[in-house]
Amino acid sequence: MEQTASQQEIEGLVKQVYASVAREPHAGYHFEVGRGLADNLGYPAELFNQVPKEAVDSFAGVGYHFDFADLKPGETVLDLGSGSGMDSFIAAGLVGANGKTVGIDITPEQLDNANRLRGDRFDKIEFRHARIDDLPFEDASFDVAISNGVINLVADKQKAFEQISRVLRKGGRMAISDIVTEKQLTTDIVCDATLWASCIGGAARQTDYLKMIEAAGMQVVETRDNTQYHFLSESAKEASGEFGVKSFSLLAVKA
Ligand SMILES: C[S@@+](CC[C@H](N)C(=O)[O-])C[C@H]1O[C@@H](n2cnc3c(N)ncnc32)[C@H](O)[C@@H]1O
Repeated sequence: MEQTASQQEIEGLVKQVYASVAREPHAGYHFEVGRGLADNLGYPAELFNQVPKEAVDSFAGVGYHFDFADLKPGETVLDLGSGSGMDSFIAAGLVGANGKTVGIDITPEQLDNANRLRGDRFDKIEFRHARIDDLPFEDASFDVAISNGVINLVADKQKAFEQISRVLRKGGRMAISDIVTEKQLTTDIVCDATLWASCIGGAARQTDYLKMIEAAGMQVVETRDNTQYHFLSESAKEASGEFGVKSFSLLAVKA
């Protein structure tokens, strides 16, 4: 019972933080936000041609993985924890008029932003309220799953990877960026809701993270550390220095 209450508390704070990122992207957080961050992470400028500026302003990802995703015209893409939609808009541009992109998120303010920016112009994108650990889609309904800075925020990561694997077709790709650790975090950090919402407290050890992906029926093909990603606040920097908290990107294929 106690654990459930604290998970609820953490999720409440996660929603509060990302509602604020959606409404006030320039307010100042434990982490960077916006176009400068995307440039530092290696997003090529040409990807932004069709992307609404406000979606870029609220970008709070931790890495670049569109090279791993290798999206092709006509593919169906699921963006897990799509925020204000920057990566979904980029994906929609890459899969073109015959493709389809669905973004899901749990924070209403992020979904409101994304849907407003979608307008009538982007009819091949849909944004829906849904949880990564309970995806409302048929088995094998997507070619590719992408996600940026989100799975660390999900308490039951094994369930999240099982859901992702379930909705990918055989041979489908999962290309994501996320925060992981080199050492196991201590309980005081895991139970610090602010550090959790800042993408640190919920981070799993990289070795465990990769094992969970494989246990969910996907094969990890490639990983890459995003050494350009840095936390901003002192508490976040301290925890990340001590436990080897880092951003990485990975490509996995549904077996
Ligand atoms: C760090 S932000 C990243 C947003 C977006 N991917 C980006 O790059 O800007 C994390 C997002 O994950 C969403 N989120 C957290 N837990 C989630 C869950 N269990 N299911 C779906 N979305 C979740 C949050 O609401 C937030 O919008």
